[in-house]
Amino acid sequence: MGDQIRFKIALLGLGTVGSGVLQTLQNRSDDLLNRFGWEIDIRHILVRNLQKDRGFPTDHLPMTTDVNRVLDDPDLDLVVEVMGGIEPAKTLIQSSIRKGCHIVTANKELMAKYGKELLHLANEHGVKIYYEASVAGGIPILHTLQQYLQVNRIRSIRGIINGTCNYILTQMSNHGKEYEEALREAQKKGYAEADPSSDVDGFDAVYKLAILSANAFGLDVDVNQIPRQGIRNIQGVDIRLAKELGYVVKLIGEAVREGADIKLRVGPQLLGWDHPFARVDDVWNAVSVESDVVGELTLIGHGAGQYPTASAVVEDMIAILKKMDTKDSKPFTIASEPMTQTSLSTPWFYIRCNDTSLDTLETVQKVLATHTQFLEWRILETRNDHGRFYSLGGVLFDPDGDLEGLENLLNDVCLRFMESTDTLVLSVYNPALVSRVPSNVFSQVVNF
Ligand code: NAP
Ligand code: HSE
Repeated sequence: MGDQIRFKIALLGLGTVGSGVLQTLQNRSDDLLNRFGWEIDIRHILVRNLQKDRGFPTDHLPMTTDVNRVLDDPDLDLVVEVMGGIEPAKTLIQSSIRKGCHIVTANKELMAKYGKELLHLANEHGVKIYYEASVAGGIPILHTLQQYLQVNRIRSIRGIINGTCNYILTQMSNHGKEYEEALREAQKKGYAEADPSSDVDGFDAVYKLAILSANAFGLDVDVNQIPRQGIRNIQGVDIRLAKELGYVVKLIGEAVREGADIKLRVGPQLLGWDHPFARVDDVWNAVSVESDVVGELTLIGHGAGQYPTASAVVEDMIAILKKMDTKDSKPFTIASEPMTQTSLSTPWFYIRCNDTSLDTLETVQKVLATHTQFLEWRILETRNDHGRFYSLGGVLFDPDGDLEGLENLLNDVCLRFMESTDTLVLSVYNPALVSRVPSNVFSQVVNF
């Protein structure tokens, strides 16, 4: 073993992902030695709480709560950031880059908001930042975009990119669970972010969509400008109504190119049962890329969780260590022409209204039908501790509609007729609906 190399590493974070990374490196240490002649020397493991029970022995590990142990170490080759959040992660990464350390991170919030700045700094200092784990867990979508679709012009990229939401929606759909119970299970399994609102309100998917769009289109994305809708207002009755109408509900992130415009959006959608994503369940993610040379390509895999995410982190580490001597990294695509970011909208919507009176809902249905094209609708009766109530669910077409306009209309109608204003609007993706709309109306529709 004369050619053995000892790489010196700091691991920032030993939570769900960090523990998976540590255990994968330990379990594969013989492979790394035999295959590459590498020994991975973990010099520091940064955590917040040294006393925490991590479910495995930690006495022998170089754990610390002192960031200076990492900052003052002059010999580190690689820093692996799996702590999450913006600070102190950003400052630690910047300081490590300035010392000449390569970086692997799983931090989608940081990369979505400061990726461009960090990549620029890394290029200035001749080091790399790899961040495959930040999007869709174990699915190697970023390397696919960066390395295997370089002559392709990408027209769209869409996906189920939040495992927690997909898990919750699947539990509601396949096991009749209510939202809160399914969320608790997702948190217990380590899928959810520390703050669950990041997942269920769509922020996490927005960050991932921003990173995907930067890589697919060379777009400099402002995450605050991406229209975002989460899943916390979806009730069991919506899932049942959707099923009755022939759909499944999924949280979708999508970016569609039209000329120099890249239209972006994150929100729950109703997908027809024959849609390729319809049976991508639980914590599975799927990302579909449409481009001019290869056509359509869909990658499906575990989008969150300890080992799928650790896989992406450790593979990034190996990729960096294998070429520690090469030049600039260009992980964000450089656009050949200036791109503009806009909002993606769709003319198809699902609406749901709840009320205790069947007559009221039938009136609401009639009023909505005069303002929009109501293509299909159902009314379900539900009983709970408070008695009997009804839910009107329908799919409608509104060529001028945007989510906000339709929500306003719905609120107006509901305020006029209904006791409660408990309503929901979701967009629908189902090309089969096109044939259900009169051609003069369809001609007004762009972007489907
Ligand atoms: P986690 O379980 O909450 O672990 C975070 C770790 O970082 C903990 O060990 C914590 O220390 C440490 N930490 C946090 N803030 C710190 C601070 N200020 N100083 C020192 N240590 C600090 O989070 P996770 O789920 O592993 O996620 C980590 C990163 O991976 C996040 O960026 C997340 O978005 C990303 N990610 C997660 C998944 C997933 O499935 N969980 C998938 C893809 C990407 P203590 O343990 O002492 O509290
Ligand atoms: N909380 C994220 C999710 C983790 O559920 O998809 C993976 O990025």
